[in-house]
Amino acid sequence: MKDYLIRKAEQEDVERIIEIAQSRLVSSSSNETTGLIDYPIPSAEKYSRRISQGLFYVAYDDSWGYVAGFMDIYRDESLKDIFGEDPVVNAVLEAGQSPIAYINTLAVAKEFEGIGLPSRFFSRLEEDLGKSCKQIWAAIVLEPLRNKRSAAVLSKAGFTFEEEIRAFERYTFGLYKKLMN
Ligand SMILES: CC(C)(COP(=O)(O)OP(=O)(O)OC[C@H]1O[C@@H](n2cnc3c(N)ncnc32)[C@H](O)[C@@H]1OP(=O)(O)O)[C@@H](O)C(=O)NCCC(=O)NCCS
Repeated sequence: MKDYLIRKAEQEDVERIIEIAQSRLVSSSSNETTGLIDYPIPSAEKYSRRISQGLFYVAYDDSWGYVAGFMDIYRDESLKDIFGEDPVVNAVLEAGQSPIAYINTLAVAKEFEGIGLPSRFFSRLEEDLGKSCKQIWAAIVLEPLRNKRSAAVLSKAGFTFEEEIRAFERYTFGLYKKLMN
């Protein structure tokens, strides 16, 4: 298997991050089993800010020099600043026991899917968080389209389903938590 490194995202990665996000955008009326469902893709400016404020990683194909996927995570102190009154983030902040980290997006380009990049992202995240954080949270869409592949990835990584919430009028999100030792 090729060597994929997980490194911190840099400002030069923004264009490729947007490209990956756009390529994984799906409509809730589709038959897909994974994807960024009706996701409003952040602008380049927003991604730049998120890279400097969050724990933002990319999976990097070392032989081709190519970014294969990304994961962006935020500690609770920066969540309000970045997401404002986002109902999903608010629900996580209410349910979580501070200090937490919240995974906002995990996405890999289609051609790099199924080779286990998510577990590499999670290992790197947990290594960096160390004992500075009690819980990691993530949210995925359950309705109108269930993100089955993401649910499988989260449960494989040791996350458990905690609760579901309704948000943005017609969506149900599942909130998942992993306890850190
Ligand atoms: C979600 C995502 C990151 C997973 O990446 P990946 O490369 O497929 O992850 P993995 O290699 O660990 O494989 C996924 C696992 O899900 C399983 N899976 C795939 N489709 C599935 C389905 N329909 N139902 C249940 N499990 C499924 C696979 O069998 C695999 O498990 P295994 O390793 O035990 O065989 C990727 O599919 C993706 O980028 N999706 C689009 C973006 C997205 O939806 N992100 C999540 C919301 S932020």
